[in-house]
Amino acid sequence: MTNLFQKPQSAALAFMVAGAVWFVVGAVYGMFSAIHLVAPEFLPHVAPLVFGRERPVHVNTMLYGFVGTMLVGIGLYYLPALLKTRLWSEPLAWMAFVFWNLTVLSGPLGFAFGFTQGREYNEYVWLADISLVLAVACLIVVTALTIVNRREPQLYVSIWYFMATFLWTASNYPLGNVMWHPATGAMPGLIDSLFLWFWGHNLPGLLITPLATGAAYFVIPRVTRTPLNSHTLSLLGFWFLIALYSHIGGHHVLQSPIPNWLKTVSVVDSVSMVLPVSIVVINLWLTARGFGGRVWNDPPARLVMGGIVWYIITCIQGPLQSLPFLQRVTHFNNWTVGHAHIAMLGFGGYIALGAMWHVLPLVSGRPVYSNKLINLQFGLITFGLTGFFIVLTMAGLVQGSAWHNGETVLRVLPQLSPFMVMRAALGIFILTASLVGLANLYLTLRPARQEEPLLRGEEAA
Ligand code: HEM
Ligand code: HEM
Repeated sequence: MTNLFQKPQSAALAFMVAGAVWFVVGAVYGMFSAIHLVAPEFLPHVAPLVFGRERPVHVNTMLYGFVGTMLVGIGLYYLPALLKTRLWSEPLAWMAFVFWNLTVLSGPLGFAFGFTQGREYNEYVWLADISLVLAVACLIVVTALTIVNRREPQLYVSIWYFMATFLWTASNYPLGNVMWHPATGAMPGLIDSLFLWFWGHNLPGLLITPLATGAAYFVIPRVTRTPLNSHTLSLLGFWFLIALYSHIGGHHVLQSPIPNWLKTVSVVDSVSMVLPVSIVVINLWLTARGFGGRVWNDPPARLVMGGIVWYIITCIQGPLQSLPFLQRVTHFNNWTVGHAHIAMLGFGGYIALGAMWHVLPLVSGRPVYSNKLINLQFGLITFGLTGFFIVLTMAGLVQGSAWHNGETVLRVLPQLSPFMVMRAALGIFILTASLVGLANLYLTLRPARQEEPLLRGEEAA
């Protein structure tokens, strides 16, 4: 056992495997949520599976469990690799793994039985919050001391993003989760919405986005076998992200009586977000220019580039829906659920999966069992998610325009039914994709796999 916790890159692999397992768990809960939006009377007497409990399990398991966990695992591989050293302490990374996954596990175990703080994206109870903060503290120490002990003088941009993610999370998570009020995790009254959305926004913005961006910056130049187009530009994007993303969570509560100056700041800077986003996209694009074939023909890199394409779409939609005149129609309905899925699965999830498949042979020393299965996963998710985006956007527009014209929520519900049926049907493709991924991972790592040679030397480097 001791050996496992000392084995180089074992914690990275553990994070990636856990991410793949959480993807399946989250998808199962997503399916239950989707079915209940079609047939509310489905399994009526199973308390853990009422909509109000299964939905937060779905959301938190997907964000922290699938996307977050997998991206941390990928970072724990590229951190020492890019710094030409070993991870400072493998056992400490394992401690982070345990604390992080206990928090994620507290979702299905806790929310299902009513243990929740009931604030969207801040649902974990205080003990689970502590566990997450401890995980982040371990990751800060491991990352910082690996950087200190590096043999490569230049800090590649992925390292900046990886280190910064944990520093930001260590300060933003306790603040948004109001951890100094252990019983409720909340502030009184309207002010709570500001704290809530501070983290609700920085979870995608300063946890998922930097991890995904760092992973994309790692994978694309490796696959195209070209140097990054511009290191300076990449760091400019990094600083713009901090300058703009950290304080625009007000765009989630534009329809509430929060101070006007805060609304103005959040709208102006939401629109300015085109700067850091364009920098990342242009930089990666110019890196891959002329080598598109290498990206397209490499199944993991295709997923990563797919994630960048979803990032472009998400970040065209995002600034537009921060404009108050548009948000009057799109707020509080399925439009936002569509945005959340293309952002979290499209951008974060595609990059997490692509980078995981890219890194897996390097960590395990074995080639991925089947590239065809990666392609199948890509196809299933792309079909399911594109469908989600279309169906949910249409449902949102039906709801929003009806409400805007004075209709009641109740009277619009029957019109949503076809969209909800289609979403549930499309969910089956994404659930299948998660299972295909887990099977491919198992078949790659299974101990009895003798027939294929282990990767050595240059192939593994
Ligand atoms: C099997 C596939 C999936 C199905 C059937 C599904 C279904 C659902 C349902 C029914 C909701 C609740 C919507 C509502 O309250 O109106 C939801 C919310 C959400 N899901 Fe999924 N989902 C799936 C996959 C994913 C994945 C892979 C991710 C992220 C990687 C994700 C992230 C989210 C998020 C962030 C929300 C909250 C949206 C919001 O509040 O705006 N889902 N999903
Ligand atoms: C240019 C960048 C972006 C802008 C300006 C933006 C803007 C917005 C706005 C205004 C909302 C609230 C919509 C409403 O409630 O009416 C929202 C929701 C959301 N965004 Fe973004 N977005 C951006 C990028 C992203 C990215 C990259 C992610 C994920 C990594 C993301 C994840 C989410 C999620 C999960 C929600 C749903 C929150 C909820 O449950 O209400 N967004 N975004």
